[in-house]
Amino acid sequence: MEKTDPRPYVITYLATSLDGRLDGSPIDIERYYGIAARFEVDAILSGSETAVVALDRCSGVENTYNAGPVPERALPNDPRPLFVIVDGRGRVRSGSTFQQLPFWGGGRALLSEAVPEAHRAYLASRNVDSLVIGEGRVDLDRALSRLRTDYGVRRIRVDSGGRLNGALLRADLVDEVHLLICPWLVG
Ligand SMILES: NC(=O)c1ccc[n+]([C@@H]2O[C@H](COP(=O)([O-])OP(=O)(O)OC[C@H]3O[C@@H](n4cnc5c(N)ncnc54)[C@H](OP(=O)(O)O)[C@@H]3O)[C@@H](O)[C@H]2O)c1
Repeated sequence: MEKTDPRPYVITYLATSLDGRLDGSPIDIERYYGIAARFEVDAILSGSETAVVALDRCSGVENTYNAGPVPERALPNDPRPLFVIVDGRGRVRSGSTFQQLPFWGGGRALLSEAVPEAHRAYLASRNVDSLVIGEGRVDLDRALSRLRTDYGVRRIRVDSGGRLNGALLRADLVDEVHLLICPWLVG
């Protein structure tokens, strides 16, 4: 049964090797995202490392500040999910790249107070909204609540590696866990 508290319902979905590794094996991307698409969610939550790796591996984009054309904002009633990145240290510079992909109805960055004002201003100039929640790190509990109250996110799927998933699990913020077990040994 879904929670009635102000947080979104949090679903994690991970592809793991037989020996429990989340990285280092050739994931069947089509199968992974085919299943992911079945979870009807309002937002996807990624960590900064996952985002930086995805920019490089999937889009071939360097993670640098970009002065090119500013991606347009999605319309407020866009039915596609938001793409939300936990980025407590302001590492993700090409975040607006995600906004240009057809899968998302806009991007949001969750930052901590440690992120320099210049980085926040840059994100704003690229039409990426940010929420500053937490001192040295993003306060995940409060950040999830803000996603619900500010952006109406009721269900969210975590697309991330072990660190963000681990932090969410330890903080008891996960409602459902799904594993895609792949026939590989990473060692
Ligand atoms: N197998 C799968 O299903 C799957 C799915 C997605 C990604 N991946 C892989 O996973 C790898 C990346 O995984 P990762 O674990 O290194 O990185 P990650 O999932 O991106 O997690 C790191 C993020 O979590 C944040 N974080 C960690 N602990 C926190 C806490 N206590 N409070 C607040 N924020 C916290 C970090 O904050 P800071 O910003 O403050 O550092 C950082 O933003 C990539 O290689 C990617 O390909 C695998």
